[in-house]
Amino acid sequence: MTIVTPSEAVSTGTSVTFPSSFLWGSATAAYQVEGGFDSAGRTPSIWDTFSKTPGKVHAGDTGDVACDHYHRFREDVALMKRLNLKVYRFSVSWSRVMPDGVNVNPEGLRFYTELVDELLAAGIIPWLTQYHWDLPQVLEDAGGWANRETAYAFENYAVVLHEALGGKVRQWTTLNEPWCSAFLGYANGHHAPGRTEPSAALAAAHHLLLGHGLAVRSLRERDPELELGLTLNFTDYRPADPSSPGDVDAARRLDGSFNRFFADPIFRGAYPQDVLEDQAGLWPEDLVRDGDLEAISTPINVLGVNFYTGELLTGADPAEASDAAATARAEGEPNPNVGSEHVSSVRRGLPQTAMGWEVYPQALRDLLLRLHTDYTSEAQVALYVTENGAAYDDVVEPDGSIRDTERQDYIRQHLHAVHEAMDSGADVRGYFVWSLLDNFEWAFGYAKRFGIVRVDYQTLERTPKASAHWYAHIARTGVVD
Ligand code: NOJ
Repeated sequence: MTIVTPSEAVSTGTSVTFPSSFLWGSATAAYQVEGGFDSAGRTPSIWDTFSKTPGKVHAGDTGDVACDHYHRFREDVALMKRLNLKVYRFSVSWSRVMPDGVNVNPEGLRFYTELVDELLAAGIIPWLTQYHWDLPQVLEDAGGWANRETAYAFENYAVVLHEALGGKVRQWTTLNEPWCSAFLGYANGHHAPGRTEPSAALAAAHHLLLGHGLAVRSLRERDPELELGLTLNFTDYRPADPSSPGDVDAARRLDGSFNRFFADPIFRGAYPQDVLEDQAGLWPEDLVRDGDLEAISTPINVLGVNFYTGELLTGADPAEASDAAATARAEGEPNPNVGSEHVSSVRRGLPQTAMGWEVYPQALRDLLLRLHTDYTSEAQVALYVTENGAAYDDVVEPDGSIRDTERQDYIRQHLHAVHEAMDSGADVRGYFVWSLLDNFEWAFGYAKRFGIVRVDYQTLERTPKASAHWYAHIARTGVVD
């Protein structure tokens, strides 16, 4: 299904109140904040290798130190507590816990045990993501996610984490944004490991999903009461001209290869047929084996939704589309939209964040309702907004304060969108702002700041921005102005 109708703006005129059970939190990811890149036996991940490859990351930035969360996590937990946050969504560095990809490193695990203990002592729920893009380099050297063995290695790693932390951590997210891991990592190479092989990207996507399903199955067997799920990134795609067959088809294609590609196998046990047709000839033979889709569609409890923006699309007439895609693939820059390389986006003229992403909050409301209707309601799966937020070029005032009104406004509009979706029946139970801290924004290095807390990368000092004080009030009262 593709939403082609323009939708009504979110109403932000009056304040709204969220239920007292609603979970307010913030999110980070290991490679983006931890630093401690060679501490206690940690080995390189694909992001260590990629960031140290000249030309891959803005200004040659790396995660060697990042926010030094590895050494300052107690300070960061105290900060979260002061901000009234009830959840901390963080990820585990696989190469810290299993430096050779196979054997457990107790010293590496200890960091997470201590972090979780510190959170629990502060009354903050630890929400653990097992994989946020930082595959151990040693596993990439063996073929990475394009190799089926990596799915089994991931299951094994998930079990190791559960054995160590299962008594204390109840919320488990297997993967964060597998679209990015597969298609930015293996199709256009903008992310680690920087490969540009469309078929390997499809293999990676399938093996990521398989790893997810195997991990959920194993953890469920060990403890039926765990809250298990994954986080997908969704973008709102609409045709630039709803009366143009090419534009309508462009929106269908990207909605398919970006959104439905992951949601359909998880909830329906099948890849979408139209997407398979768009990508015909690119799927490696023997990739999807008997039993894979059953594993992938193992029931989950939670769907994490990462949402930032929407795009208007334009594309070739469907009758010529597959030829156009093949030509674009042969001639153009490597593209992450495998099978739909000829589709392009059109600016709406809306305000943009520092990432160049258009601000379009009503799409979050529409998306949550669509997910509820199409996927999660029947499966009795709860929705959480596991990431939402914005990068802006913050200015530090002479008195040291940061009045980030644009970020505050972005979050405010999106919270109203979440509230409208809940009013219309979507079962949304929490919202985690991206991010707690300014951090390593992947290929953009430290140039883009998403934090509600500023990090001075010279001194590593943390300074809550105006948005943090404002968000702390929401987290305490549930009221959004
Ligand atoms: C999605 C990713 O999960 C996160 O790592 C990233 O920093 C944000 N979006 C912002 O781009």
